[in-house]
Amino acid sequence: NDKKPTSIVVFGGTGDLAKRKLFPAFFNLFLEGWMPDDFELLSLGRTEHTQEEFRAYILENIKAFSRIKNFSEDKWNAFKEKIKFIRFDITQEESFIQLKNQLDYIDTNLGSRANRLFYLSVAPSFIEKVSNSLKKNGLAENVDQDRMIIEKPFGYDKESAVALNTMLAQTFKEEQIYRIDHYLGKENVQNILAFRFGNTIFEPLWNNKYIDSVQITVAETVGVEDRGGYYDGSGALRDMIQNHLMQILCMVAMEAPTEFESTEIRNRKVDVLKSVRRINPEDINHYTVRAQYTQGEVEGQHKRGYLQEPGVNPNSNTETYVAMKFYVDNERWNGVPFYMRTGKSMSEKASSVIISFKEAPCTTFKSTVNTLKPNKLTIDIQPEMDIKLSFMTKKPGLEMQLKPAEMVFDYFECSPDTPEAYETLLLDALDGDSTLFMRSDQVEEAWDVISNIQTAWEKGNVSKMYTYPAGSSGPEAADELLKRQGHYWFTNS
Ligand code: BG6
Repeated sequence: NDKKPTSIVVFGGTGDLAKRKLFPAFFNLFLEGWMPDDFELLSLGRTEHTQEEFRAYILENIKAFSRIKNFSEDKWNAFKEKIKFIRFDITQEESFIQLKNQLDYIDTNLGSRANRLFYLSVAPSFIEKVSNSLKKNGLAENVDQDRMIIEKPFGYDKESAVALNTMLAQTFKEEQIYRIDHYLGKENVQNILAFRFGNTIFEPLWNNKYIDSVQITVAETVGVEDRGGYYDGSGALRDMIQNHLMQILCMVAMEAPTEFESTEIRNRKVDVLKSVRRINPEDINHYTVRAQYTQGEVEGQHKRGYLQEPGVNPNSNTETYVAMKFYVDNERWNGVPFYMRTGKSMSEKASSVIISFKEAPCTTFKSTVNTLKPNKLTIDIQPEMDIKLSFMTKKPGLEMQLKPAEMVFDYFECSPDTPEAYETLLLDALDGDSTLFMRSDQVEEAWDVISNIQTAWEKGNVSKMYTYPAGSSGPEAADELLKRQGHYWFTNS
């Protein structure tokens, strides 16, 4: 194929993300012919491994986590030749010099300069060191060829995100930086744009004249598991709302881009974030609910409460659940509430966007008002992947009675084997397409949206910390948040 030869360098190559997501994703791309003909996967880690040990470890994880489980030994043998483990200590300059030698060696063998894709899957405290050392050793100087993917958390608040962006800008140009939000790689999140802008019949209704409210839910059954140390310093607002849910909101609310192109799409998303109404500190309790899970049962398994999780401060004030209401103050969305919620240790794993339309305006079926249900468009992101449109129909029979019906587009039915988010995003980064990655201003603006909430919650005594039993659908206070406006959550995740 015509893809440029590429040296891929994974910092954190022995970490959890690499084993569960990155290597399986590279392997799937390789199996399906998307990787460049010439590539090397340099995996950097602190502990010593022989090449054979490391490759066996990757194979084991591919077997456990890869989307594609049936592959020939020949394919694996060809892939494994591309993997090279390098013992690496980020704090040591010597390690970067070795890396430089390795990259130069690859280029010499190739007879040309390969593209370089650096993947930073390391603790935030190491980002600056890596960035500075890459610069010092001249490893990422070629703006057109060298790229850097950075994992979240991207900062801790607006200030730290700005500082991080400023620091990175000393080594990289903005177009070299790929800030990953893996929700943007999810098939049905991308589909929101196709659905809205690839059809004639939905977009004319996509505004406050016809839409009553929008609900965005990302519910997880997992608790904090072994990530207590990280999570306790973060919480659901930072870990999920600031990035994943806010990005989904942008996809739902953005204006039509003039073309499907990175700058244009990202500009339109930033417009949305700028229009999201900032919640005044004195109104925080009116717009937000935060909660922590207590012990309970999730999918038949006993689960301890958040405060009993390893790595979590027993007096922690960190939320594992957030429900909130946002407004997007622009012409299209004026007055339409966007409800969002996300939580850990919930009754079921379910992420969706639900657009609820206004009631049918005419009086024709006034007498059947009890059965008349407003139209609803559901976009299921995971684990279901579908789009469902509910509408009223005549009930078959002699009388004129109405009942709701549903039209369904089911992804699994048409394509049972859709690529994983990381496959899409890694391929885009290899190809230099940053459309689905976050630009510095997007990240900063998203922090700005939640900034007042962060400050209010940090004061502790301003908002109540509700609780919910693990395996439940969250605190009742989240229902109250909607009830005030005559709304309710459509799903009971
Ligand atoms: C991550 C969060 O970004 O997204 C995790 O840090 C969360 O806390 C995860 O569990 C959810 O991702 P997914 O793809 O499993 O929905």
